[in-house]
Formats: sequence, C-alpha cells, structure tokens
Amino acid sequence: MKTRVCIIGGGPCGLLLSQLLHRQGIENVVLERQSRDYVLARIRAGVLEQGFARLMREAGCGERMDRECEVHDGFFIADGERLARLDLHKYTDGSAVLVYGQTEVTRDLYEARDQMNGIVLHGVENVQLHDLTSSAPSVTFRRDGDLQRVDCDFIVGADGFHGVSRKAIPSDVLREYEKVYPFGWLGVLSRTAPVSPELVYARHERGFALCSLRSRVLSRYYIQVPMADRVEDWSDEAFWAELKRRLPTDVAQRLVTGPTIEKSIAPLRSYVAEPMRHGNLFLAGDAAHIVPPTGAKGLNSAASDVHYLYHGLLDHYTRADSRGLDRYSERALARVWKAQRFSWLMTSMLHSFPDSSAYDQKLQQADLAYYFSTETGQRSLAENYVGLPY
Ligand code: FAD
Ligand code: PHB
Repeated sequence: MKTRVCIIGGGPCGLLLSQLLHRQGIENVVLERQSRDYVLARIRAGVLEQGFARLMREAGCGERMDRECEVHDGFFIADGERLARLDLHKYTDGSAVLVYGQTEVTRDLYEARDQMNGIVLHGVENVQLHDLTSSAPSVTFRRDGDLQRVDCDFIVGADGFHGVSRKAIPSDVLREYEKVYPFGWLGVLSRTAPVSPELVYARHERGFALCSLRSRVLSRYYIQVPMADRVEDWSDEAFWAELKRRLPTDVAQRLVTGPTIEKSIAPLRSYVAEPMRHGNLFLAGDAAHIVPPTGAKGLNSAASDVHYLYHGLLDHYTRADSRGLDRYSERALARVWKAQRFSWLMTSMLHSFPDSSAYDQKLQQADLAYYFSTETGQRSLAENYVGLPY
C-alpha cells in the first residue's frame, strides 16, 4: 500500500491528525494495534482546552462536543477544610475549559473517519519502521497473519507511551527526561450525580483527591494511592470512604455514592523525549511526552503537537514549504515543557509525598496559599489551566 503519511496509533492524537489531513486531501493511513471497542473503553481525559476544541471543529468533529460538553469557567481547590474557587473567566480573557470525555472525542473522530472512508487498520501486530532517514520510509506489520507494508513520505508515531515509534529512534539521538512519582491515581466512574458542578482538586494529609464529572449524571473521582496498590485491593465501599475523608466535610456530606462502572489505577509519570523528529519520523502526543494528570494537560499537549504537525505537513504539500516541519520539534517541545512545568507544579502542590518532612509540608501549604491569595498567583494558575496559546 502507498500513502503520503502513515500514522501509527489510532488514539485521539493519531485520529485527529488523520482527519485534519484527509480534509485537506492529504492521503494517510492509521495503524492501530487494538480493536475499536478496546480503544473506546479506555476512560481517560475529561478536561479540554479551547485550542483542542478549535482543532476538533476544524476537523469537522465539533458538533456533538459543542452540544453536549459542559463549559467550566472555574474550579475549586480544597486544602483540608478550606475550599477556594479559581475563577478562570476572571483571570484569563474570559476563557474557560470544556468538560467532554476522551472516550467521546475518540468516538466522534472514529465516526468522522468512517464517513470520509478514511483508512484505519485495527489489529495490526509487529509494527516495524524502516528507512526513517531516507526519502522513502516504510512501515511493515502483520494483520490477520499476513505481512503487509505501507510506503509513505512521512511516518507519524502517535502510538502512546508504550508504542514502538519512539523506540525506532537510535539511542545516541534520543534524549529522555523522566520523573516517576511514588504513587498512582485510583479512578472510578459512577452513574451518580457529581458532588459539585465544578471540579474539586483536594489536598489532604491522607493524599490527593479529585472530584470530576462527565455529565450531570456521570461522575469521575480519583484518589492518590501507593504505587503498590492494586484495583482488587479497593472495594467500592473502601473507595467512597477514603474519598470522603479527603474532602472538606460539607463537600463529603453532599457526595452521592453508588456502584462503580469502572475502576482503574494509573501510575503518575513526567517524561519528555527529544527531539520529536528523526528523519521522516515525527512523534506526537503520549509517544513523546507524558504528564501526571493533575494539570489535565496530556491530551491537550497531544493537540498542540497535532496543530504544529498538521500545519507543517499542509505547508509542505500545498506550498512546498518545509519550514514548519523543520521547526516542528522545537516548537512542539517549547509548549510541551510549559505543560510539564504546570503539571509538576499542580502535582507537587497537591499530593502527599511519602518522604516529605514537616518543613516540606509547610512549604507546600505556603505554595498553595501564595497561588490562591495573590492576584498574580491566580492569574498564573488560570492561564496555564485554560492552556497557553499555540
Ligand atoms: P493514546 O491515547 O495512548 O493512544 C495511542 C494509541 O496507539 C492507542 O490506541 C494504542 O493502542 C496504539 N498503539 C500502541 N502501540 C501501538 C503499536 N505498536 N502499533 C499500533 N498502535 C499502537 N489529558 C488531558 O489533556 N486532560 C485530562 O483531563 C486528562 N486526564 C487523564 C486522566 C487519566 C487517569 C489518565 C491516565 C490520562 C489523562 N490525560 C488527560 C492524558 C490523556 O489521556 C493522554 O495524554 C492521551 O490519551 C494521549 O493520546 P495519544 O493519542 O497520544 O495516546
Ligand atoms: C477527568 O475528568 O478525568 C480529569 C479531570 C481533570 C484532571 C484529570 C482528570 O486534572
């Protein structure tokens, strides 16, 4: 098979790029290891920046999102019994974020790909990348037992943190920067009314907690747990009891509990791979960088990569101008590192660290007090949360 761009990974990043390119007449093929049902069963991001929403609209996929999303112009941070609201609208130029699940984003993108007869091949195995530094790279894989091959101009690695694309970059070229946190997030989805119409991020000496939502009847809650914990260790009752303990009393009293629909543990990690281009391979999204979810920046950083890469490819094909592609890695990384900084800040300010001293804890409280008691602090949190421009 011959195409212009071969995209490895049919998650939100790969699908969004595929859809944007196809609408501009740039042929591409998406290779996805899992089935569509499997991809759609993953519950992950919930908070989208306006930049992400704009790209979805530009891809012709914004209609249901705009109809069904919730627009949030603030969120709460709790510290023990104290509860403070960050007014996003006030501290940015009237900006806000959208609450619309990654599952729905991915569903909308798959439907759009179907409508345009876009090629998305599921169930691909043993994906291998070849001749990355030549003008004729290719990808081979097995599907239904057959060995297949895609010849292309460019390969995009949008295959997530555990994908194969990044590993195809020689180790003397790739630089990796990593921070692993000594805890994870236990997340549950429950068909119950959310405890608060706006998100509540809670710092507590027992550990961090987050109250989020997907709709008026669907709640998403997280608690910080030790890395060694397994999902089986946490009954629904134990989860609800622990969540309540970490919320201010009046919030905990309003919490509606019920059977959970999904329960999973996500490890927390900060990671960046540089450069994001090697020859004619471009990395995008989680394949190149990971953040702890505390700042809600993972999928949103994938979207800014898509923006730079899409415009680079468009200029290359429509105007024979390759400057955008040449600058892709540098431009994408400049924004990625700011998202890393913010995610690290939110994580270190709100989690309980096993080895922290009494002094460290006092500093953590002072950090939070600074960000919430000063105009500059609130403005800084708000501008980062709604998303820096790209
Ligand atoms: P992925 O979603 O990982 O998709 C990669 C795809 O590639 C997968 O479908 C995978 O099956 C496929 N693949 C892997 N290997 C291969 C292979 N060898 N061959 C072919 N295909 C392959 N982000 C936010 O912006 N806001 C939030 O509120 C937020 N909340 C989060 C909450 C949690 C609990 C978690 C875990 C994450 C959260 N994130 C959030 C992060 C966000 O979910 C990720 O950043 C996002 O999924 C990245 O998309 P992606 O397409 O780059 O990678
Ligand atoms: C979510 O709703 O899943 C969510 C929201 C905000 C975050 C992380 C996750 O910071």
